[in-house]
Amino acid sequence: MSSFLHQLPKVELHLHIEGTLEPELMFELARRNEVTLPFDSVEAVRAAYDFEDLQSFLDLYYQGMNVLFTEADFYDLTWAYLTRCQANNVVHTELFFDPQAHLSRGVALSTQLEGITRACQDAEREMGISSAIILSFLRDMTEEHALETYEAALAYREHFIGIGLDSAEVGNPPEKFARVFDRAREDGFHLVAHAGEEGPASYIRSALDTLGVERIDHGIRCLDDEALVETLIARRIPLTVCPLSNVYLKTVPDMTGHPLPAMIERGLCVTINSDDPAYFGGYMNANYEAVQNAFAFSRDTWVLLTRNAIEAAFVTPARREALY
Ligand code: HPA
Ligand code: ZN
Repeated sequence: MSSFLHQLPKVELHLHIEGTLEPELMFELARRNEVTLPFDSVEAVRAAYDFEDLQSFLDLYYQGMNVLFTEADFYDLTWAYLTRCQANNVVHTELFFDPQAHLSRGVALSTQLEGITRACQDAEREMGISSAIILSFLRDMTEEHALETYEAALAYREHFIGIGLDSAEVGNPPEKFARVFDRAREDGFHLVAHAGEEGPASYIRSALDTLGVERIDHGIRCLDDEALVETLIARRIPLTVCPLSNVYLKTVPDMTGHPLPAMIERGLCVTINSDDPAYFGGYMNANYEAVQNAFAFSRDTWVLLTRNAIEAAFVTPARREALY
């Protein structure tokens, strides 16, 4: 079964490129950019990855990305992730990046987007991996800041296909960003949002109703609201679930306590993704293995999860056909 899972072609729809920064590359970029890290070894960095909740992870995640400055840094980060995709047989990936977290450190949008895009183009040409970029707003910042960032990003609109919402969820409900999502919808972008990771099911409802998102990132709290589950099923809204992330951030007690089987059983359009694999114990194959160790799914279930991801991907009809 393990070799079946490794060889299964995969589609990843929930991945923060900054969350793929492995400690080894963190040290290399720190040296290159003459940044002093608050850790004296790669092992010390890994030892610090013992999270209590989403915020305790975010503190280290924002600190880690402080080594990224140049176009080459963003290229190297993204290229390293895409080589992991090849090793995990990920054939299509949609990746988030957090423009505000770099703008606030003085890194221009063009630097960020050009480095990420160039690596994606090289991966398509050299490894046949297709990809797309989603610009994600930090929900613990103001809507005005998100709007300003969105307007600045329009100068590079050919580089990204959609917008999303991430960072500290509780206390920052989706409706806070209604205007920026309205703008992006008018401009023809795809819309997604993290909701129901640590926050309540009502945030998932709000992401659907006030932001009009096409997919929900995480969404594991949906089972708390039966009417919401029925809406998600009827509208076939994909949920980009991240099993190892949920275990590492203690949003579930352990993998065997994850609602994934119940979500699949209900007929929700569930997909499996790695979120921040450098921080949460591994990439797509590691997520598939951890899920399989806990639930011993049949091959049919794995094929169903993969088909869900192909259905949920923001690709052309021709690319979707090729993925099936
Ligand atoms: N949740 C919210 N924000 C994030 C995450 C996450 O898992 N990863 C990076 N930003
Ligand atoms: Zn995420």
